[in-house]
Amino acid sequence: MDSTKYSLADFMDIPDLDIMGRAELFAQYAEDSRQRGHAHFRRISLTGSGPTMQVVDPLTGKVNEMIYMASNDYLNLTKHPRTIAAGRAALEKYGSGAGSVPLLGGTTDLHIELEQKVAKFKGCEDAILYTSGFGSNCGTLLAMLTDKDIAILDLLVHASIIDGCKNTNVRHFRHNDMQSLERALTKAKDKYRTKLVVVDGVYSMDGDIAKLDEIVQLAHSYGAYVMVDEAHASGVIGPNGRGTPEHFGLEGQVDIVAGTFSKGLGVVGGFIATNKDLVQLLHFYSRAYMFSTAPTPQAVGSLIAALDVIETEPELRKQLWDNIIYFRENILKLGYNIGNAETAIFPLIIADGLKVRDMCRHCHELGLYINPVQYPAVPERLSRLRISLMSAHTREHLDKALEILEHVGREFDVI
Ligand SMILES: Cc1ncc(COP(=O)(O)O)c(C=O)c1O
Repeated sequence: MDSTKYSLADFMDIPDLDIMGRAELFAQYAEDSRQRGHAHFRRISLTGSGPTMQVVDPLTGKVNEMIYMASNDYLNLTKHPRTIAAGRAALEKYGSGAGSVPLLGGTTDLHIELEQKVAKFKGCEDAILYTSGFGSNCGTLLAMLTDKDIAILDLLVHASIIDGCKNTNVRHFRHNDMQSLERALTKAKDKYRTKLVVVDGVYSMDGDIAKLDEIVQLAHSYGAYVMVDEAHASGVIGPNGRGTPEHFGLEGQVDIVAGTFSKGLGVVGGFIATNKDLVQLLHFYSRAYMFSTAPTPQAVGSLIAALDVIETEPELRKQLWDNIIYFRENILKLGYNIGNAETAIFPLIIADGLKVRDMCRHCHELGLYINPVQYPAVPERLSRLRISLMSAHTREHLDKALEILEHVGREFDVI
């Protein structure tokens, strides 16, 4: 099979093949893609997240030291001495697992401490913890909305939000477009019981920020609630790194604040911060919470420390922003199209999926670990390389990455 003639979308559903037949055909596609040096997914790291990483080359098996610009570990808290020490102490005291679901024995005093810290961090009354950010979005939406309700979603919200809305009515509005949102709110007026507008605070593939101030004002004026997913905002934006509501001075005014613990906080898991009554309802009706073992003590211990680090070591966020400003200025000078990116995530929009795969292979060969984003994750005309920065990237890392991107960009005639 010639994998360059297909995309992942072609194997999503094949009408005449059962699941094993479909898997066999997909294996042919994946092997051809690997042979062409396009196998950019599941590259194996021998050192874990950091500004550089030892990575196994998928074709040759050779280990390369690479500059890693694809992590969501924006503040490098995965390797911070305080998150490691606190995780280790929790592991020693409480053991390797929580032992049960949260309602039936899996809640320790450490879990309660984290719930309270998260609620305070997000300016809300209370918070509920999940073992993944995907689970917290999906599990909460499934618990809150039925066929009598409606979710009004920005076109670019994360997959976990889309999957969480499978049991309810859905209307999309154009990305960050207030006129389009208002049209959706007008159409939904007086028709549904709960109306919920859901947006990401920072968009994961574009790095731009939701116009949360306008969204909250507009949604509330139509009697709709607002939920914001803070996955890529926590630790990164807002004067104290508290995310999008803080960035807009809206703390306490967003009805539901969702987030992950896996990105700026450097661990794993997810949360919903909101009012006490809704948190309690979710304890009993969110199946992803009720029927799933509580987060590990190590994760919870590390997260308590991560929130403390965000509060007491603002210099990490400052270093990240110095890097963002420097990289942004120079990538624009090279002539790349970065859309409306304004945070630590940079899309380099190339608009040609095959070129993106080839450019990615070339960057990989030159020692830069970045990822391709292609159809169906984004439309073909918006195919891109996705770059993300960390506070621990040095000026040398940034300059080397820019040099590689200049070389590859010229070779492929995109700058
Ligand atoms: C915007 C957004 N929301 C939710 C998630 C899911 O979070 P997690 O990886 O913690 O499950 C992700 C991450 O992949 C994300 O980018």
